[in-house]
Amino acid sequence: MSKVELEDDSIVSAGVEHSVVLAELHARCFPHSPWDAKSISRILVQEPYDCLIYCVGSTPVGFVLWQSVIDEAEITTICIDPKWRRKGYSRLLIVELCRFLSQDQVSKLFLEVAEDNSPAINLYLNAGFEKIGWRRKYYQKEDGTLVDALVMGLDIIKT
Ligand SMILES: CC(C)(COP(=O)(O)OP(=O)(O)OC[C@H]1O[C@@H](n2cnc3c(N)ncnc32)[C@H](O)[C@@H]1OP(=O)(O)O)[C@@H](O)C(=O)NCCC(=O)NCCS
Repeated sequence: MSKVELEDDSIVSAGVEHSVVLAELHARCFPHSPWDAKSISRILVQEPYDCLIYCVGSTPVGFVLWQSVIDEAEITTICIDPKWRRKGYSRLLIVELCRFLSQDQVSKLFLEVAEDNSPAINLYLNAGFEKIGWRRKYYQKEDGTLVDALVMGLDIIKT
């Protein structure tokens, strides 16, 4: 897949050439732990990684990055520019990701999310993910506090 046209928007596959755009988006979404373009391009050249960008017209507003191995995939990150949130764009990225993965014979999608990230947890529950476990003290916040991660899974066949 290279591009899916929605009514006014599109979801496009990202390559190394999008690293700068992805880094700008990442910095707006995670201002305390931004990934630079070099790190992103190092990820994108690796075989198991793939990325979809959500564009409103010609403006990139968010992306989902994941890795897949045989029949399982894991979301590495998903984010939407703060100016463009609560418009359903993440939900659409997840729907498109699941469509893409099911064509690739991937049947399970996993992710980890900080237990205090309620917008993201709501997004995943809303998309059909189930809570399947915990990773204790998995994330470190800006003030040094350690936060547990919730592990969530989605059976892609059911979507
Ligand atoms: C989490 C995030 C990706 C959601 O993106 P979004 O495009 O605003 O989400 P959507 O508009 O697609 O929302 C889909 C559903 O998610 C839930 N949701 C999204 N944002 C929410 C919020 N701020 N509070 C509560 N629920 C929220 C709702 O259930 C929503 O459905 P609804 O609008 O019908 O109620 C976005 O807030 C973000 O980029 N956060 C910072 C990065 C991050 O934490 N990423 C996740 C890392 S694991």
